[in-house]
Amino acid sequence: MSPFYRNTALLLVPLVLFLTTFDLVAGATSFSGIHVQMFNNLSSGSDLTVHCKSRDDDLGVHLVRFSKGFYEFEFSVNIWKTTLFFCSFQWPNAFHWFDIYSFHRDADLCTNCIWKVNETGPCLLDLHNSKKYDICYEWSK
Ligand SMILES: *[C@@H]1O[C@H](CO)[C@@H](O)[C@H](O)[C@H]1NC(C)=O
Ligand SMILES: *[C@@H]1O[C@H](CO)[C@@H](O)[C@H](O)[C@H]1NC(C)=O
Repeated sequence: MSPFYRNTALLLVPLVLFLTTFDLVAGATSFSGIHVQMFNNLSSGSDLTVHCKSRDDDLGVHLVRFSKGFYEFEFSVNIWKTTLFFCSFQWPNAFHWFDIYSFHRDADLCTNCIWKVNETGPCLLDLHNSKKYDICYEWSK
């Protein structure tokens, strides 16, 4: 290798590092925040106790009254696009878990993610198509 090419190769290393860093920062700012909201749709008419967490955040325990009560929170998707919030849902004689926001599952479905929670599990409002709460899931095992 001639000295010219060796020097060029050495120059490329910081350039690639710079571009990678720039891309990560640009990627982070191109995401808007995510808003998650959930309503108590329990047919029994019970109040619902919700406790949501991510790997880094514990959002605390919240009581969602039947049936007009709701709980909501906001966050930004992380630069690795691995954002995951999971919640426990509790009412008399019942305790369940569900991933209320998973980037991999929900990125194409919502940035304003609105759920109704009943005994069977949560249903997401389909903002793009039916405009109904018909994207339904069962509780996590
Ligand atoms: C649950 O949600 C559905 C769909 O919005 C609604 O028709 C129904 O009345 C609700 N039921 C209760 C018990 O809140
Ligand atoms: C809960 O919602 C699902 C999906 O809409 C529905 O099939 C189910 O009957 C509901 N369960 C209760 C107990 O209301």
